[in-house]
Amino acid sequence: MSDPIRIQLVCLGNICRSPLAKAVFRDKVEAAGLDEHFEIASSGTSHYHVGDPADRRMRETADRKGHSLEEHRASQFSEDDLARFDHIFVMDKSNLNDVLHLDEDDAHGGKVRLFREFDPEPDDYQVPDPYHGGRQGFENVYDIVERTADMLLHQLAAEYDLIETDPQSAEEERE
Ligand code: 4NP
Repeated sequence: MSDPIRIQLVCLGNICRSPLAKAVFRDKVEAAGLDEHFEIASSGTSHYHVGDPADRRMRETADRKGHSLEEHRASQFSEDDLARFDHIFVMDKSNLNDVLHLDEDDAHGGKVRLFREFDPEPDDYQVPDPYHGGRQGFENVYDIVERTADMLLHQLAAEYDLIETDPQSAEEERE
């Protein structure tokens, strides 16, 4: 078995957007029968919430849509992550600046991209920070993450020549 494709999803606090993006992407990978091909992590560029569970509002939104964030504990993105991960997908342009700032030798910048580059409706290419807003902001983040994670998985599956299982037949196989 070859090395897994190492994916890191990054936001500011690692309690709202990137934990959701990780959970949704992970669940799509599992449904496609591709878990063994991926290692999926998330982190925040700040230290503000290190060790904390995901934000309650994000957990509730994820739960309603069938994704669990219960296991999540926040961590901070590090310079080592830049070397270790194959693809780093950031939620907004401020995250992009912060991550690239750690790339002192300009060795890894090519791995770092805005997550919404894969969104079929990319708007300004950023996942808006829902932390200081109301419930609608969390729903909006969910909708963006859901459709972007789908396209991201298709794109990576094509790039790495992985065969995706139809989620419906994967479900039937498990029963
Ligand atoms: P996240 O949201 O980056 O999507 O996890 C935020 C969480 C916390 C803060 C800002 C954004 N904060 O300022 O504490």
